Amino acid sequence: MYNLPKLIGHRGVRNLSPENTIESIKLAKKMGLSWVEIDVKVSKDLIPILLHDDSLDRTTTGQGIPLEFNYKYLKNLDAGFFFYNKKTNICIPTLSEVLILSEFYNINLNIELKPNIGFEKENVNAIINVLKTSNFNKKYYFSSFDLNSLVIMKENLPSCRCGLLIDKFNKDISLNDVINISKKYNFFCCGFNKNLINYEIVKKIKNHNLNITIFSEENLSVNEANKLWSMGIDSIFIDDPTEFQLD
Ligand code: G3P
Ligand code: MG
Repeated sequence: MYNLPKLIGHRGVRNLSPENTIESIKLAKKMGLSWVEIDVKVSKDLIPILLHDDSLDRTTTGQGIPLEFNYKYLKNLDAGFFFYNKKTNICIPTLSEVLILSEFYNINLNIELKPNIGFEKENVNAIINVLKTSNFNKKYYFSSFDLNSLVIMKENLPSCRCGLLIDKFNKDISLNDVINISKKYNFFCCGFNKNLINYEIVKKIKNHNLNITIFSEENLSVNEANKLWSMGIDSIFIDDPTEFQLD
């Protein structure tokens, strides 16, 4: 089993600083988190950038999907206004900038592949190019709700660590499917919505030597986190770690 930390900063620390920005990642590290999760997708000119949503609308002063714009345009959008409700100099960072920052500040990264739909291959290839041409030597792993992106990633970078994210089970994907897929593609972990998790699931996944991470819509309390860790969960994505004791 891979050694993941008990807490991973979610989009930096998204409740305390604008998500998926340099500022937010730096704050996560300052608060004692050694790993940070970021959402990555490409611009029109295939530059991997940090953005969670399909569109620019919620977290930036732009509108539309990032794939419609070159990074030269995107970098001039304000990615802090939505959080502070006033004009800021905070911009959408590129993955490349984040790798430089993370190398400097000793931050390990969970890169979530959030491709523009239909551009999964371009997304993965662009991310691999950035990683290969960077001097990033910290730990990292990839995750995604999109199996296709992870499969492409594994094909192109077989030694990389990958984990499938699951929001809900349905007729298309059961717990057994998740385990079988993870084994088939040599993934090392599974990430679940907190609402899905119970002892039985944890036991089953652990029997297959997979790490388990948990994400949630709302920040988890220390009590909730303790319960999850005692069940055997490895890592929790945290929006605000203030109440937690961190080294
Ligand atoms: O990877 C965990 C978490 O980031 C998945 O959900 O929507 O916040 O990217 P989301
Ligand atoms: Mg994410």
